[in-house]
Amino acid sequence: MPGAARIGEVITLGIETARADPSLRLLLRAATQEVHDRLHRHAGFAAIQDATIQSADYQRLLARLYGFYLPFEAAAGIGAERSTWLAADLAALGAPRPLAALPRCPHLPWLASAHSRLGARYVVEGSALGGRELARSLDRLLGTDAMAGRRFFVGRGSGTGEAWRDYLAQLSAAPPEPAARAEIISGAVATFAAFEDWLDGWSSLPNG
Ligand code: HEM
Repeated sequence: MPGAARIGEVITLGIETARADPSLRLLLRAATQEVHDRLHRHAGFAAIQDATIQSADYQRLLARLYGFYLPFEAAAGIGAERSTWLAADLAALGAPRPLAALPRCPHLPWLASAHSRLGARYVVEGSALGGRELARSLDRLLGTDAMAGRRFFVGRGSGTGEAWRDYLAQLSAAPPEPAARAEIISGAVATFAAFEDWLDGWSSLPNG
């Protein structure tokens, strides 16, 4: 997890670049590239990707994701889709712990403005692009094409590209002023940081 000083540096870089470069999507990508790359190496996501994840670890990862998305969806003002998909996956896998007993992320990003919430959505909408890839790598664990247990990673399935394009259209419609862009970028950076920090503790969870 990058420290507060590092997050500050990334935001400053984003603000400086925002003044010079018109493409907000590229700015978001540049400001979050490092954390995105680190998440590829997260032991849970990496084990899904190379199809070596075991059932107990998969349930731990889903439980940790549930503990993030449930409060995050409320904070970001988005529907409770992802937490519902995660709950369905945990139930399908027979996870032993009730959802109410799962730990929830206590350090969510501060998303007080519509701009910061738009930036936060970059993280969740973008993660669906990688999620679609990961869903395909779950065949060994879940059985070919079985939906049970992979609802979250499948996400919107064939509608993923369209949802992403809708989101990019909202980004393009955001005001071009540097202050608005900086708020959007810091919403995304803070969301990635909170997500990475919370996911760090995934393997210490009891199974399910
Ligand atoms: C092993 C795990 C992951 C893999 C393999 C992966 C893979 C990918 C791929 C292939 C894309 C580009 C898709 C395209 O251009 O069509 C992408 C984009 C993206 N992913 Fe991931 N991802 C992973 C984890 C995550 C996580 C955990 C998050 C956030 C919580 C995330 C956030 C994003 C974002 C924001 C984008 C959009 C980047 C852009 O502006 O183009 N990814 N990912």
